[in-house]
Amino acid sequence: MRCIGKVAVVTGGAMGIGRSIVEGFVDEGANVLIADRTGAVEAAAQLDDGSNRVAGVACDVSSQDDTEAMAQAAIEAFGRIDILVNNAGIYSSLEPKPFEEIDIEEWKRVLEVNVLGQALASRAVVPAMRSQGNGRIVNISSGTPFKGVPFMLHYVASKGAVNAMTKALAKELGSAGILVNAVAPGFTMSDGVLSNPVQLEKLQDISLKSRVIQRDQLPGDVVGAVIYFASQDSAFVTGQTLVVDGGAYFN
Ligand code: NAI
Repeated sequence: MRCIGKVAVVTGGAMGIGRSIVEGFVDEGANVLIADRTGAVEAAAQLDDGSNRVAGVACDVSSQDDTEAMAQAAIEAFGRIDILVNNAGIYSSLEPKPFEEIDIEEWKRVLEVNVLGQALASRAVVPAMRSQGNGRIVNISSGTPFKGVPFMLHYVASKGAVNAMTKALAKELGSAGILVNAVAPGFTMSDGVLSNPVQLEKLQDISLKSRVIQRDQLPGDVVGAVIYFASQDSAFVTGQTLVVDGGAYFN
């Protein structure tokens, strides 16, 4: 129960890695607001055990209005915001392809959601965290910018930006008592990935072979690192990106 009484907002928490993170926070005693473009209210109803500790709000993180409404919904439901997990991102719907063939609109949307979306969600919750004098922001990055994974240039660029924003925001917010860290998963069998046969065919086997720990990465494998960055255990850690990929890349 490392997050007892804390209030966590998890973007993209209706399914995949985000949903596992929500479950992790519930197990650790937190109240959780799921903010997702689709399925947030339904997921909250499924995950709440009747104690009203899980709520949901429809939110596209690339919209400033939506992210502000998200922060407002958390305050209305639970009175404060202690933790933001910037998990919402475009990945599982992408098809690996040479960079010359990536559609320009797809480039823009990936950057808008994966980069601007994290900045907007952070911006929306920081006033509450500042007034409390503390807060935690955990950005979900990816192992791909460390490895220079080919054929997803827009995605790799977006997660490289997340790593850079994690450091810069940690410096901007440290004096306000707000710690900013990132978790960088490897190729994970999320709901989205499992519904994309092209990604599974191209990436599952090669990812498994590249790891020290010889099995598929599951959404639950990411949760412990997120809880660590959200809890007292990491009270003197900020600006860091922890790679959680079964030992494929040693950061
Ligand atoms: P997923 O596709 O299974 O689920 C993504 C969730 O985010 C969905 O509920 C979706 O509705 C929501 N979402 C998407 N765009 C949104 C938006 N604009 N605003 C609000 N919600 C939005 O995804 P998965 O695989 O669980 O990925 C989650 C995060 O983990 C992403 O940031 C992804 O880049 C990152 N990641 C995933 C890896 C993987 O192999 N699955 C590996 C490394 C990082």
